[in-house]
Order: sequence, then C-alpha cells, then structure tokens
Amino acid sequence: MKILVINGPNLNMVGIREKGIYGTRDFQDICDYIKKEGQKRNIDIELYQSNIEGEIINEIHKAYYEKYDGIIINPGAYTHYSYAIFDAIKAVNINTVEVHLSNIHAREEFRHKSVIAPACIGQICGFKEFGYVMAMEAIVEMKN
Ligand code: DQA
Repeated sequence: MKILVINGPNLNMVGIREKGIYGTRDFQDICDYIKKEGQKRNIDIELYQSNIEGEIINEIHKAYYEKYDGIIINPGAYTHYSYAIFDAIKAVNINTVEVHLSNIHAREEFRHKSVIAPACIGQICGFKEFGYVMAMEAIVEMKN
C-alpha cells in the first residue's frame, strides 16, 4: 500500500507560525512522525509540500500515474477556495482524506467551509499531526 501525503501552503512554517493553534512541533518533525507511523503499518509514505497551487495539482496527477492507493492532503488555506484542487482529486479518482491540524470549525467563519472535502472520502480536523495517522488508517480500512 502506498499513500501520498500532500501539505499545502504555510504548512512548512508549522512550529514557527501561530504555535497556540498549530503546536510547537516543527514541520520536519511532523514529516518524520508521519513516515514512522506509516512504516509501523507497512504503508509506503511519500511526503510532498508546496506553497503553489499548480504544483499541488501536478502532484495529485502524479498519484494517478504512479498508482497510489490513497492521498492524504492538508491543503492549507486552499481548502477554502481551490476548485482546481477539488477538480484534480475528482480527476484521479483515488481515495483521498482531507486533514487539518486545527479544528477549522472552531475558528474564523471563512475556515468553516471546505470546497475540497466533497471530493474526498472524509475530513479529519482538530487532532494536530495525529490526524494524518487517522487518515492512513481510514484509507487502509476503506480499501478492504
Ligand atoms: C490548516 C487550516 C487552514 O484554515 C489554514 O489556512 C492552514 C492550516 C490546518 O491544518 O489546520 O494553513 O489547514
């Protein structure tokens, strides 16, 4: 089983940005944690981060050509307005889980709506980096 984990804009600044919301663990540390949790479950994890919408879309397309079993995506603020990422997920037809470190529903109103979640099998938010692990488990479970 191989899963592509995509992190969008400003996620590389976690550990530096708004620590009260996103925690103090830095991005590299979170990536190492996700990889390790994948290994424990025999899941091959590939990690990708970009601050650029088109690059994220290219990476989603790559998941199709390289036959990934699942995608975990934290689209950052693109969550709230990127119809292009929504379309890319629809196009590849790969089980995708949207993850957010923070509980977007408990924050500013503009964060309450995800235009990407309807293209996904589900959304997990509010559990910090553990959300990525929950998403892995969900993809495994949904494949069976
Ligand atoms: C986020 C939530 C988004 O609203 C925000 O723009 C982010 C991070 C999260 O992981 O909680 O950049 O996706």
